[in-house]
Amino acid sequence: MNERGQGAAPPVGNGANGASSVSSASSASSAPNAPNAPNAPNATNAINATNATAHRRKTLLFAEAPELAAQVPWKPLAHAPTPIEHAAAARGYLEHDRVWIKRDDLVSPIYGGNKVRRFEHLLADAERRGAKELITVGGLASTQVIATVLFGKAGGFDVTAVLFDQPVTSFARRALLLCASTGANIVYGGGYARTAWRIVRALKRSNKPYFIGPGASSPMANLGYVDAMLELRDQVERGEAPRPDIIVVPAGSGGTLAGLAVGAALIGWPTRLIAVRITELIACNRATLRYRIDATARYLAERSQSLARRVFEWRPGARFSIHHGAIGRGYGHPTPEAMEALAPIEALTGAPGEITYSGKAMAGLRAVCRENPRATVLYWHTLSSVAPDVSSVDPASLGPDFARFFNGEVPV
Ligand SMILES: Cc1ncc(COP(=O)(O)O)c(C=O)c1O
Repeated sequence: MNERGQGAAPPVGNGANGASSVSSASSASSAPNAPNAPNAPNATNAINATNATAHRRKTLLFAEAPELAAQVPWKPLAHAPTPIEHAAAARGYLEHDRVWIKRDDLVSPIYGGNKVRRFEHLLADAERRGAKELITVGGLASTQVIATVLFGKAGGFDVTAVLFDQPVTSFARRALLLCASTGANIVYGGGYARTAWRIVRALKRSNKPYFIGPGASSPMANLGYVDAMLELRDQVERGEAPRPDIIVVPAGSGGTLAGLAVGAALIGWPTRLIAVRITELIACNRATLRYRIDATARYLAERSQSLARRVFEWRPGARFSIHHGAIGRGYGHPTPEAMEALAPIEALTGAPGEITYSGKAMAGLRAVCRENPRATVLYWHTLSSVAPDVSSVDPASLGPDFARFFNGEVPV
């Protein structure tokens, strides 16, 4: 959800990994007002344009390798292609004129961001397995939890989400209210050990559960971003933007990066991927990201001989680097650079940013721009610019475990 905490949402189904197969594994958007920057795009217009985009009948990946359609569950949720725009409104902040932004914040009028393309596979898989309840886990401000709750409830599932502690921001408060507003079962986990125990308890008592792990980054789900890379290729071929030398994307679980890396291998682009780390080093490092990329490449190669050779020839696991300079004290902790990035994010998208994902990603993007003054850079924006209005949701509806998160002022 976005820091603005308003807007609207369209709604939306893990298997391979993120879904342990236990069986494994809205509203319209009220957009924010246009920001004050002279070149700022108008978010309302952008969202209306997104609403007008039809769901796709099949993915570009399935068109490329038709044998995948029978093997990989999928249902349409994304409004794609998402726009690609010259980042002129952030020219001053970035001190760089060759930056383009890929607007996955607008990938759904229910709720945008980088989970929607994954949920096209996950929810389809949950349906195929006959699951009745989605069970997931994330931090208090997890966008993956928000997406599970919104798209899961819209798809007719019961949803239980177990939440662990992270710094409380206004974004986290709105995330909690948004989850509460859907009628999903929101369970406070607190520390990691108790959170894990509560997940096990939820799985045991559920009749037909489908588990979506933190980040929702199973190899199957990550195909959503392999497909997104084909979408970018087509946009470049149509002349909507130049081919990027560098793609900058925030990385937590690394699912988005993994899909993009495998996609870049498929289309044979020499583009360098730079992951801006937004979570702890133990969860996001060269080994974990490489593992995600390799697992995604294997998942694809095992299902399509025609793609296998292309994927492995390009060694997707070798073509990325990590920017560690934006994380500060850790996941969800504000940094001065992330706070400074809020204004350029709003100038670019018409919607406020926040400090956990987009603020740090934008700060990382600026560092990359400084180090690569002549490169053509694409910034993949992964934070929703739309979300349901939560202004009338009562925090008490979350129950007493969450009451203290609504006491007093928050720093950002
Ligand atoms: C807005 C946003 N951007 C980036 C990320 C990181 O994406 P990934 O887990 O695919 O690395 C997340 C993860 O939750 C997110 O919510």
